[in-house]
Formats: sequence, C-alpha cells, structure tokens
Amino acid sequence: MGETTMAVRVKGARRTFAAELAPVRALRGVDLEVAQGEFVAVMGPSGCGKSTLLNVIAGLDVVDEGTVEVAGERVDGREDDWLARFRRHHVGFVFQFFNLLDGVSALDNLVMPGLLAGMRRRAAESRARDLLDLLGLGERAQQLPSVLSGGQRQRLAIARALVNAPTLLLADEPTGALDSEGGLEVLELFRRLHDDGQTIIMVTHSPEVAAGASRAILMRDGRVA
Ligand SMILES: Nc1ncnc2c1ncn2[C@@H]1O[C@H](COP(=O)(O)OP(=O)(O)O)[C@@H](O)[C@H]1O
Ligand SMILES: [Mg+2]
Repeated sequence: MGETTMAVRVKGARRTFAAELAPVRALRGVDLEVAQGEFVAVMGPSGCGKSTLLNVIAGLDVVDEGTVEVAGERVDGREDDWLARFRRHHVGFVFQFFNLLDGVSALDNLVMPGLLAGMRRRAAESRARDLLDLLGLGERAQQLPSVLSGGQRQRLAIARALVNAPTLLLADEPTGALDSEGGLEVLELFRRLHDDGQTIIMVTHSPEVAAGASRAILMRDGRVA
C-alpha cells in the first residue's frame, strides 16, 4: 500500500543471449516505470534492446536478473502456463508485420482470441463486431486480411490485441511496414485509444509517431538513456 500501482515497473532488468562469438547483452540494467494510462514511445538505434524490453514486459521472454511487474504482479520467474494466462488477460501485442491469420475473415481473426480466453462464441462475436465498428472496419468483417490495405490490416491487428481488454497494449514498430498514410491512420488510432485511457508502450523509429505519445524514452546499448 502507499505506492501507486504502476501499469509497468521494470527494475534492473538484464537479458543476455548466447551467441557464437560473444554473448549479446541485450538488456544491461533497464529501469522503467509506466503509469496507468500513459502512452510511452520507445526509441533508439537498431539492436539497442527495444524489442527485448517489450518481450520481457509481455512475458514472451524472461529476464536473467532484475524484476518486471505488470499491474502490480511480478512477471519474472513465472512458469510458462502462468505466463500464457497472463498474456491472454493482460497484454495485447501488435507487431510490425501484423501476424494476422490470413486464411480467415477479419471477424474470425478477432473471434479466435476471445474463444481462447474462454468467451462463449456469441459473446466473442459480439465483442469482435464492436471492435471492428470502433476501428472503422465494420464493413470489412467478412473479408480476408489479404484484401485490406496495410493500414486496415494493422488496425485489424490492433483490434485483435484489444479483444481481451488488456491492461497493456504493446506495439513493436507498428507503423514500420506502412506507407505514410497507413502510418498516420494507425497513429491516429493509438492516440484515440490513449485518450480513452489505454496504457500503451510503442517502439518506433519515427519522430512523428513518438511526438504523438505522452512521453518518449531513448534506449542505447541495452539501457534507458
Ligand atoms: N533470441 C535472440 N538470440 C540471440 N540474440 C538476440 C535475440 N534477440 C535479440 N538478440 C540480440 O539482442 C540485441 C538486441 O535486440 P533487439 O531487442 O531485437 O533490438 P532492437 O529491437 O532495439 O533492434 C541485438 O544485438 C540482437 O541481435
Ligand atoms: Mg526490434
């Protein structure tokens, strides 16, 4: 008690990868606090550890040392099952290349994560339709991702990340594969989600995108500069 619950609190996080020549120290003691409702842009040169940081916050990767807390719960040192459940309920992840299911409709791309989290089909479908409407994709429900524009695909991927109303929305270079129009479309959406109170951490190389966030942090050589 007394201490505000942060959406994210990372302390002294270290992560080293074994490699052929010499170990790669991807995170070398990262400290980061993100308050609920913040929109934080993470910047820094390629290879400085941005994706690794996002992955350890998401429970997709583990720290070797240090602690990672999301919504007041320790994420480090957990078993895979716990992490899978944690991700389903607390983390939405958006990738540069969408990672959509190409063989099924836009709607079904959103229904599936709901079902996986234990929703009934009816509820999952209604949630999926609401999100499609919210993200301006209502007319696209029955279309395959392949016929959508890049910006629309990324909006669909964001909708999918939101299905289970995550505590945290994490995005790793979500505009990196888009043209400027698609990038603006997606940035606009993140800003709207932020206005509605969504906590967001986004890796980006784009100063314009970072300018749309409430705070930008710079990483360098596995540390927050
Ligand atoms: N699974 C892995 N195995 C080995 N090395 C990795 C792995 N993931 C990342 N790295 C290395 O860790 C460093 C940081 O990578 P990354 O976090 O992806 O940086 P960024 O996202 O800032 O470009 C890089 O040198 C990268 O090659
Ligand atoms: Mg990266």
